[in-house]
Amino acid sequence: MDKIINSLYTYNALLVIGILVFFSMLEVIAGLLKNTTRTFADWIQEAGGFVVLTLGIKPLIVFVVFALGNTFFSSYSNAFSHVNFWILLPAYLLVDDVLQYWYHRSGHEYDFLWKLHRPHHQAEEMGFFVSYRNAGLYYLLMPNIWWIGIVTFLGGGVTVAIGLVLKQLVIIGSHSAVKWDKPLYQIKFLSPVMSVVERIIVTPAFHYAHHGKSKIDGISDPNANYGNMFSIWDQLFSTAIFTRKFPESIGLQNNPKEHWTETYLYPIIKSKNIKSELSATYTKEKTATSEPITVELKKGEKYLWCKCGRSKTQPFCDGSHHGTKFKPVFFEAKKDGTVKLCNCKLTKSSPFCDNSHKHLN
Ligand code: FES
Repeated sequence: MDKIINSLYTYNALLVIGILVFFSMLEVIAGLLKNTTRTFADWIQEAGGFVVLTLGIKPLIVFVVFALGNTFFSSYSNAFSHVNFWILLPAYLLVDDVLQYWYHRSGHEYDFLWKLHRPHHQAEEMGFFVSYRNAGLYYLLMPNIWWIGIVTFLGGGVTVAIGLVLKQLVIIGSHSAVKWDKPLYQIKFLSPVMSVVERIIVTPAFHYAHHGKSKIDGISDPNANYGNMFSIWDQLFSTAIFTRKFPESIGLQNNPKEHWTETYLYPIIKSKNIKSELSATYTKEKTATSEPITVELKKGEKYLWCKCGRSKTQPFCDGSHHGTKFKPVFFEAKKDGTVKLCNCKLTKSSPFCDNSHKHLN
């Protein structure tokens, strides 16, 4: 066993590249790249993001942690070196992943972090490289990369290297255009096994739902399924949805395209497009009003009611809630007809007006 651990450690970087090559080959063989709409800028952002992260940001963070550790905490150096590998590995991975869960979730709920994470959701196709597209600063602030440095400083370098290989296997696999779990859901006797698998690790179906454009398709929810390696955090913090289905439409509801330098280097470089969230002048203005809006609904049609009060298409959601803690409310019209939908956003019977606006001054 020690031999296996040692070789996994020695070849960890090659193994991560091997995982990328493996999934890229699967995508090629399955013909998934034949009709790709991915642009040169997409490839630059994804492949470039991978290279800068691997060769620049991660080593830099580890270097800084070692410099700080040796200066202020030198007596703790190698403190983990006697901890059993089989205890340290799950402990390292669980702490790493819960940190990333909250960081990722914050990337959807706080405006500044959303602007750093937004390039990830601009991808309109899933693929083996998609997990690497975020602004450079997003990675620099990522707490679990600092955790890598800390555990390595404490003598857990072998554990970190092997943990990273396992984690990349799950993450690259859940972003890949190869939906490896899809056929497994259809095999009857494997269905209970897959129920256990999807409740432990992040599967493509689980993660694709997070990348779908909006809840309107009944499959997607960009404000759910934040997990990276494990799906347990979403279950624990009530953000999990399991549909075993794959959204047709991946990406953002509102997607003014920016140059890749603007998305990767935000906030150093801001977008020149005034419609972009990354421009210096863009603001999400309050569009909620003190009166309800009368709309015509069609029986059986699905709608997303804006809860955040910032949509430019009130009373319906246009995706402007990204970067806030608000989520749109999904509803299906039960009959044809005209209704008053709340636009003060204070109703207690959303999406319908309950006259709460009358209490506004
Ligand atoms: S724009 Fe989506 S909830 Fe307001």
